[in-house]
Amino acid sequence: MSQFIAVEKVNYPFPAKPKVLSADVQQHYVAEIKRLLVEKNAKLIAHYYTDPEIQALAEATGGCISDSLEMARFGRDCDAETLIVAGVKFMGETAKILSPEKTVLMPTLDATCSLDIGCPADKFAEFCDAHPDHTVVVYANTSAAVKARADWVVTSSIALEIVEHLDSLGEKIIWAPDRHLGAYIAKQTGADMLMWQGECIVHDEFSAQALLTMKHLHPDAAILVHPESPASVVAMADAVGSTTQLIKAAQTLPHEKFIVATDRGIFYKMQQAAPGKMLLEAPTAGNGATCKSCAHCPWMAMNGLQAIYQALTDTSGHEILVDESLRQRALVPLDRMLDFSAKLKMQVMGKV
Ligand code: 13P
Ligand code: SF4
Repeated sequence: MSQFIAVEKVNYPFPAKPKVLSADVQQHYVAEIKRLLVEKNAKLIAHYYTDPEIQALAEATGGCISDSLEMARFGRDCDAETLIVAGVKFMGETAKILSPEKTVLMPTLDATCSLDIGCPADKFAEFCDAHPDHTVVVYANTSAAVKARADWVVTSSIALEIVEHLDSLGEKIIWAPDRHLGAYIAKQTGADMLMWQGECIVHDEFSAQALLTMKHLHPDAAILVHPESPASVVAMADAVGSTTQLIKAAQTLPHEKFIVATDRGIFYKMQQAAPGKMLLEAPTAGNGATCKSCAHCPWMAMNGLQAIYQALTDTSGHEILVDESLRQRALVPLDRMLDFSAKLKMQVMGKV
């Protein structure tokens, strides 16, 4: 049985859109960044939601393009001295928590996430203190301070398996901050979850009504949905999963056409994985100026080439620093997730 707790409505400070660069200027930055990555023994780690030119650069320079779980793992395991994390701030913080010996840079430290903003550490700690008999599970999209208060960190790639495991041990769970992902997991597992009411402003906007109309126009399309979307949208999905799981679904499902309910940045890798298949953006509740995100995270969009170049030339204002005692506390639930995922992989491989 799941319960919900009310939290205050947050007004998000949307960042200005980054400047559009001419092809010549883009080429100049790409060449300079390639040179600097080698010179500084640095690797570029990009999330699937960043713009195509950033993902292409990560690909071309032996970096990583992935979901948030794999970004964390790659950053920890690669032998670079410097990581440049193109994504949002929690991803940079996670990299620093796992790799304190590495310099972790971000194109901009202002790239946040509505889930992180909507879960302040002090209020969250009060809430946990009021329910001491619960195991605290937090989504990776949270600050280092919120992670430090948790027993487990999860990403959408592994949340279901970890909650299933905790439920099998009879544990009651505090879940934060994404209410839609939490509701999806509670429904799938039947776990007893007390839920923080945060939301992703990108996924929260997908509209079941508009999706139904689109499905009528494209009856042969399969619907792929990230579980940060509302339950009514998830209910229409042919596949529900993390960004990596959705890319795999586009590759393996027999359909030639997909309606994709997640950030459109994913299309770069999804199209590579499923060449020749048609990918359509799922509709959001608004249109043009009336939609909040228009299916592209405004904070992911801040990761431009110019900002990456600036971070590599002058680290001031770009470096992620995490207080050492906080880092050690946040490391415990993160390591738990990574160990769990490593064991799970071995079990899966053991079956082959
Ligand atoms: P993934 O872990 O699926 O990449 O999701 C991260 C995220 O921020 C989704 O909005
Ligand atoms: Fe956060 Fe949503 Fe942006 Fe992901 S897409 S970083 S959950 S605001």
